[in-house]
Amino acid sequence: MASATIRQAESGPAAADTLVEAGNMHDVRPVPRITIQAFCESEGVAATMESAARDRRMARAHVKTHMGGIPAAADFYGSAPTPNLVIVESKLAASEVVADLSRLAQVCDSETKVVVVGHHNDIALYRELVGHGVSEYLVAPVTMAEMIGTIAGIFSNPETGPLGRVFAFVGAKGGTGSSTVCHNVAWTIASRFRNDVVLADLDLAFGTANINLDQDPPQGIAEAVFSPDRMDEILLDRLLAKCAEHLNLLAAPSTLERTYDFEKNAFNQVIEVAQRGVPCVVADVPHMWSAWTKQVLAAADQVVVTAAPELANLRNAKNLIDTLKELRPNDAPPRLVMNLVGMPKRPEIPVAEFAGALGIEATAVIPFDPALFGAAANNGQMIGEADAKSVAAERFETIAQVLTGKAELKVEKKGAFSILSRFRRKKA
Ligand SMILES: Nc1ncnc2c1ncn2[C@@H]1O[C@H](COP(=O)(O)OP(=O)(O)OP(=O)(O)O)[C@@H](O)[C@H]1O
Ligand SMILES: [Mg+2]
Repeated sequence: MASATIRQAESGPAAADTLVEAGNMHDVRPVPRITIQAFCESEGVAATMESAARDRRMARAHVKTHMGGIPAAADFYGSAPTPNLVIVESKLAASEVVADLSRLAQVCDSETKVVVVGHHNDIALYRELVGHGVSEYLVAPVTMAEMIGTIAGIFSNPETGPLGRVFAFVGAKGGTGSSTVCHNVAWTIASRFRNDVVLADLDLAFGTANINLDQDPPQGIAEAVFSPDRMDEILLDRLLAKCAEHLNLLAAPSTLERTYDFEKNAFNQVIEVAQRGVPCVVADVPHMWSAWTKQVLAAADQVVVTAAPELANLRNAKNLIDTLKELRPNDAPPRLVMNLVGMPKRPEIPVAEFAGALGIEATAVIPFDPALFGAAANNGQMIGEADAKSVAAERFETIAQVLTGKAELKVEKKGAFSILSRFRRKKA
């Protein structure tokens, strides 16, 4: 079939008159809400990237195109978080490409996928790169269909499972600050790691994500959960309220017009659809034990239990953690977050004793800080916005890092990306 050509727009690094071959776009699936950065060396590949970024199939993705190839990418990620996908172009021959990539590997997160666009139709190089953990090797010139099809193939491949991981937050008792921790961690993942997050407020009657994030969306989780048959990517797009560049909220109605008695699998469909569309789904699960809360917690990739350092919390946290361990025998135990620690005049169980009784370590200990949390809540701000240097903001970063497996941004992300470790193993 004849392929169409598209004229490159005036802006961007590519020459205004670069022609981009579209290729056969018929079978190309839409790309989910991922971050993509390309580092090109030729104007042709840059033009393909820019045109691809404007295609409707890429409307949900965040795409940035730079010039400078692999060396520019390696410099850039020395001080910036890595996106879900890095596309690098290199005109070099096999051994030099591999050497350049090993520099990039030192500053890339292990979760980040890499596509290489080369100028040599070299099957041995292709095999070597794929063997080292590169997702795909394309040979320039690349059509738009090849580019988008490759990206969609990497991120919506049923064999590799859903794109997004689900982190579920629950309190050991009412009012321990579980929702506050949940919203702040979601915000931190979105703003610091620049990864798209869907924050689902499952506390339909009393949820506070809308207040905490200063949003007043008309619909949200209620529509999703009451019409599971209609739940798909298009309906999800309509129900999400955009709170920040990478933070999307499925808000609770927070009204009492109806009662919310759900059956066990009520939230499965909305969570599955969200998981196909974003790298990270964060669920604020209310403090209650019902068929559906148990199901959401049992099915999540990671569970975070937030507890305050006192006796009823300890008993409940123990029951929750023991039950979840039994329900998820092949997963790591839930993470424990100790909150409201150091409340004046309150006799407290020391954190080490509390965690010791549960047989796990606390992932984070958050001090009781009513001035900071009160001011943030009143202003509809996250703690990282109200005071980025506070202990609480640091703790939210720790939790976000532990859950996502992302390396600390300030230190070198050495060896995180599989390609380097494979190089090391080879040398040994
Ligand atoms: N570390 C803290 N220091 C001071 N106040 C805090 C802290 N963490 C949370 N809070 C405050 O505690 C209150 C309860 O928090 P939140 O609504 O997050 O708790 P929850 O466990 O989700 O409650 P619920 O059981 O109602 O869902 C909020 O006003 C919040 O601002
Ligand atoms: Mg709550």
